Amino acid sequence: MVLGVSGGIAAYKSAEVVRLLRRAGARVQVVMTEAARRFIGEVTLQALSEQPVLTDMFDLGAESRMSHIQLAESADLLLIAPATADLIARLAAGMANDLLTTIALVTRAPLLLAPAMNVHMWQHPLTRANLERLRLCGRLHLVGPGEGSLACGDVGPGRLADPAVIVAAAAGLLEPKDLAGCRVLVTAGPTHEPLDPVRYLGNRSTGRMGFALAAAAAARGATVTLVAGPTDLVPPPGVEVVRVETAVEMEAAVVARYDGMSAIVMSAAVSDFRPAAVAPAKLKKEPLGESPSVRLVRNPDILAGLGRRRAAAGKGRRRGAAGRGPVLVGFAAETDHVVEEARRKLREKRCDIVVANDVTAAGAGFAAETNRVTILGPGDACEEVPLLGKDDVAHRVWDRVAALLCGPPVEGIA
Ligand code: C5P
Repeated sequence: MVLGVSGGIAAYKSAEVVRLLRRAGARVQVVMTEAARRFIGEVTLQALSEQPVLTDMFDLGAESRMSHIQLAESADLLLIAPATADLIARLAAGMANDLLTTIALVTRAPLLLAPAMNVHMWQHPLTRANLERLRLCGRLHLVGPGEGSLACGDVGPGRLADPAVIVAAAAGLLEPKDLAGCRVLVTAGPTHEPLDPVRYLGNRSTGRMGFALAAAAAARGATVTLVAGPTDLVPPPGVEVVRVETAVEMEAAVVARYDGMSAIVMSAAVSDFRPAAVAPAKLKKEPLGESPSVRLVRNPDILAGLGRRRAAAGKGRRRGAAGRGPVLVGFAAETDHVVEEARRKLREKRCDIVVANDVTAAGAGFAAETNRVTILGPGDACEEVPLLGKDDVAHRVWDRVAALLCGPPVEGIA
């Protein structure tokens, strides 16, 4: 994790935060602002964190110009303690004018701020607005400030939270590494089925759910392969990406990587049909008055194929164990009878879990940032998940998968 220290009188307490984090087993990279260096010695934080402290963007990259980006991407949490009013303002403005704010803008890790400032600064409408702005960007968490007498003589909210409280809040945000040692494959996005060199049959999937699943699995320590249909999304760092266009290509990519996978999560919206033939040249609208018709043929059902393959390999095994078949998770985008349809798919495709969503519901489905799903399986289990960000939905799915991977052998399913 990265611990940012900004320049306020409470910066001296960051030494205790580092000490407690190290005692809890965290690897801590301290990043100080220029102003913080006036309040606490770099040497103190370096000794306690057992890592060189970073301050200057331009010092970092003797060996690599991009190392601040790598540092931001590899962080599992960005904790800033103390977070001054100035730092919060710079974060809210999206500024990247020093190493700490640059890391904050790059990282996708949760941001935990422990504010500390004068009471009037804390209560100022601009500070409130800045925090609100940051909150809208998501992944913002606050610990404190506490109330009491402040260094400036005022009394009220503005004290840095107790270091032990800050460390407990940080621990609560760090993802469990319960998928460490697991190889998982996630499919994402739509498939495009070409009609001719310029046209295709597609669907409205954006790939967001699948990309969130891949990022969440990587954060939990898994080695992740993301098989992605056409999408503009930027893949999460550290994830192997295999780009495909059609269902047949997706099937080949998944089948080739099946062996050795602990879990396969099929969140892609695979086209059920494809044009029977792809015209070698663009279809013409002439002669006038004639409308061409397109004959469709069925695409392979990739998930059902994986379910059959796993069933053929034997029953009564621990899911995800080497050579015994991966945990299989399907998605079911439905418009009516959501749970019944999903339960049928769970049975027919022989998977362990089906994540069902009503794509017509507000805040759910293809283009939304959020999703409201029901997670069915294993067996009769049925969990209705409230409307959540797709990142959080992804973690709920991995919670289930992780429980299956650690649980007793599954008898008779498949
Ligand atoms: O049958 P339906 O398309 O609703 O099933 C959805 C689930 O099956 C998803 O997990 C999707 O990725 C998978 N699927 C597949 N191959 C298809 C169609 C769907 O693997 N041809």
